[in-house]
Amino acid sequence: MRKIAVLTSGGDAPGMNAAIRGVVRCASSRGMEVYGIERGYDGLIKGNIFRMDSRSVSDTIQKGGTILKTARCPEFETEDGIKKGGDVLRAYGIEGLVVIGGDGSFRGMKDLSDMCGITCMGIPGTIDNDLGYTDFTLGFDTAVNTVLDALNKIRDTMTSHDRACIIEVMGRHCGDIALYSGMAGGAESIIVPELPFNIDDICAKMRRNVIKGKVSDIIVLAEGVCSAEKLKAEIHDRTGVTIRTVKLGYIQRGGTPSMADRVLAARCADRAVELLYDDSCSSRVIGIKNNVIIDVELSEALSVKKQFNEKMMEIANRLSF
Ligand code: ADP
Ligand code: F6P
Repeated sequence: MRKIAVLTSGGDAPGMNAAIRGVVRCASSRGMEVYGIERGYDGLIKGNIFRMDSRSVSDTIQKGGTILKTARCPEFETEDGIKKGGDVLRAYGIEGLVVIGGDGSFRGMKDLSDMCGITCMGIPGTIDNDLGYTDFTLGFDTAVNTVLDALNKIRDTMTSHDRACIIEVMGRHCGDIALYSGMAGGAESIIVPELPFNIDDICAKMRRNVIKGKVSDIIVLAEGVCSAEKLKAEIHDRTGVTIRTVKLGYIQRGGTPSMADRVLAARCADRAVELLYDDSCSSRVIGIKNNVIIDVELSEALSVKKQFNEKMMEIANRLSF
């Protein structure tokens, strides 16, 4: 394959630029022609395509967001939209496409591959870490470190005032951001959508913490459970205690990518390009398992259910004793 394109789709994630750079440079160094598509599938349908070379990705590795922009595109969830996308790629003579995005973007990629015969490679780009076939997705490590930084700062104030605080973090239906940041930040409680939780147990734990002499109480709450405001009201009803709340929001999606995300981006990009260079390959997604880069057939990858790490939660609970 000599002519390929790259796009970013769904929510932006730190490390997407490092992945775009990786695709452009790994392909250019093999003599392949690379095109960038702006605003995900929306730009594909509209033909917002331009030629990229090694210099067009200079000074991007450290930048958050995505230089290709991103979008959510409902039209691409229709047969008509997918066919339009395929026609645009054919008109440019583009044979392969690298999609950097999450679960939804990969579903779009599957339709494009099945209906239009375009070979696609997926690089997992989402802060949520909600894809079952890979241990980690691009952006997750940076997002967790951003949460951790915020948690440390919030802890200073909560400790100074002997207060409790609920920190609401992103992740959609996945509790990994809450689990990893809560464990690393020494949260007193971590609440995730994958595990049932009992509000009375949380209240009892808060009371025990006061008796034990803990002067601050941090509850990390995954957005997939409920809002921090709702939990605050329920705790107040039961205990009379007024808890502070912080919804971290979009700061989790931005910022310079961590070393782990940049290296993961480079390794995934290299594998995606290598597979496209080898014409015999069908559409696949790239990931990482036990620190080894893997590639998995698209439908198979989409059917793998994400496993929540209950052992880590057990450890986090013991550490908050
Ligand atoms: P993410 O890729 O981060 O999971 P979304 O779920 O918002 O983000 O999906 C990004 C885009 O992928 C959507 O706006 C749409 O264009 C496309 N997409 C999502 N689901 C499908 C689907 N089932 N079929 C085709 N395209 C889809
Ligand atoms: O998928 C990434 C994510 O940031 C989720 O954690 C969050 O639920 C969602 O996107 C927010 O999406 P939007 O960009 O539409 O606000």
